[in-house]
Amino acid sequence: MNLYRPSYHFLPEKNWMNDPNGVIYYKGEYHLFYQYNPYGSQWGNMHWGHAKSKDLVHWKHLPLALYPSKEQGEVHCFSGCTVIDGEKPTIFYTSIGEGERNPEIGAEQWAAVSEDDMLTWKKCKENPVITSKIHGDIEIKHWRDPFVWKENEEWFMVLGGSHNNKGCTLIYKSKDLKSWEFLNILCEGEHILWECPNFFKLGNKYVLIISPDGQVEYYIGTLSSDYKFIPEFKGILDYGGWDGFYAPNSLVDDTGRRIMIGWMPEHSRESFDECGDWAGVQSLPRTLEIENNILHIKPVKELESLRKTHEKYENFALESTLVPKIKGKALELIIEAEVENDTCFSIDVLSSQDGEEKTSIKYEYADKSFYIDRSKSSVSDKCRKSPVKGNVELREGNMLKLQIFVDYSTIEVFANDEKVISGRVYPVREESENVKISLLKGKKLKVKSFDIWNVASILE
Ligand code: FRU
Repeated sequence: MNLYRPSYHFLPEKNWMNDPNGVIYYKGEYHLFYQYNPYGSQWGNMHWGHAKSKDLVHWKHLPLALYPSKEQGEVHCFSGCTVIDGEKPTIFYTSIGEGERNPEIGAEQWAAVSEDDMLTWKKCKENPVITSKIHGDIEIKHWRDPFVWKENEEWFMVLGGSHNNKGCTLIYKSKDLKSWEFLNILCEGEHILWECPNFFKLGNKYVLIISPDGQVEYYIGTLSSDYKFIPEFKGILDYGGWDGFYAPNSLVDDTGRRIMIGWMPEHSRESFDECGDWAGVQSLPRTLEIENNILHIKPVKELESLRKTHEKYENFALESTLVPKIKGKALELIIEAEVENDTCFSIDVLSSQDGEEKTSIKYEYADKSFYIDRSKSSVSDKCRKSPVKGNVELREGNMLKLQIFVDYSTIEVFANDEKVISGRVYPVREESENVKISLLKGKKLKVKSFDIWNVASILE
């Protein structure tokens, strides 16, 4: 019996996966590449795995896209991106070797092209495309994860790194994707390193997303004529961090949506080793939009196609508890309610009958927080129990909407179509699949609607 392996999230059949790479919409299909170790369920031997989808929901596995070129001293193919140059898809990625070419000081940026619609890839003869010599006297460490785009007939690239022990993003320009010019340090921050930068226009602003070895951050701002990013607003892209969401990557599809997918790591397993021969899940795809200077993050609509059995409750006052009939380890739930000054409520999922094992998604008015309470998520004491916490402003009329996706060991909570927390949990009991809503503080919760669905597996 599978107790931990998600059923409607993307993951390879077995082995280790981390960052999504080179996500791109190409000839009517979404392509997802990812950091993959074909030899085991621990990080190492980085290859690029590959899958594609017509609907962002059902994925078809494809042959591995990139292998380390051992004969050229390459040990890992680190993260990167895919772009289309005319008809020809090109991957840019960070090549890591031994010794001088180690990730801290000697990474190089390499390219590969495909001539069969992205099925197989050939490394370019010109590799390395860029070496750190391009920066002259400026010393950049942990220089990696190219993100390339075209603007006004010119190609631009950003890379992550560390400059004087501060996380930074660097920007480069090219006419032909082959010869590159270093433009500037686009932006620097307080963390020690910035990985996997994404930089794109959204409306009339630029958005920079960085993974700083913790919660992923976003900045909204403008770009100066000397290629300095001027941040005006900042926020947390997903409160999960190492407990649930890291190193995301994004694409634009034919409808113009900016869609983002992130890696849901297994750090919360700690010493819990009962999951089997796989590690790492890709998050549900989410759309990004700017509203009132805040990034609004929503699950893509396509996910609704997985909804099965449904129960709906409308316009009622919750005074103690509600137990829906639907239960399961793969669920979607939406609650819309008016909260009052003293409200605190909890939605328990993956709960055993006796409630000894349960994951509680809670809202607390006192500090406007919503969080995944993992203190009882697993009766095993080997996995992490700390809460994964975020904040959300109420909507007009003190309204709160929580949309929750439960998939065995993954939990994603979207609040007011704006904020999101992703987390990992490892309940060990097979019967931990019950649901219950409880009012914990306050006299009543005015619920406008509560929906719950069983969610179909994408393998069915
Ligand atoms: C982020 C990261 C990237 C790197 C890759 C290696 O999780 O560290 O910076 O390219 O993973 O697997």
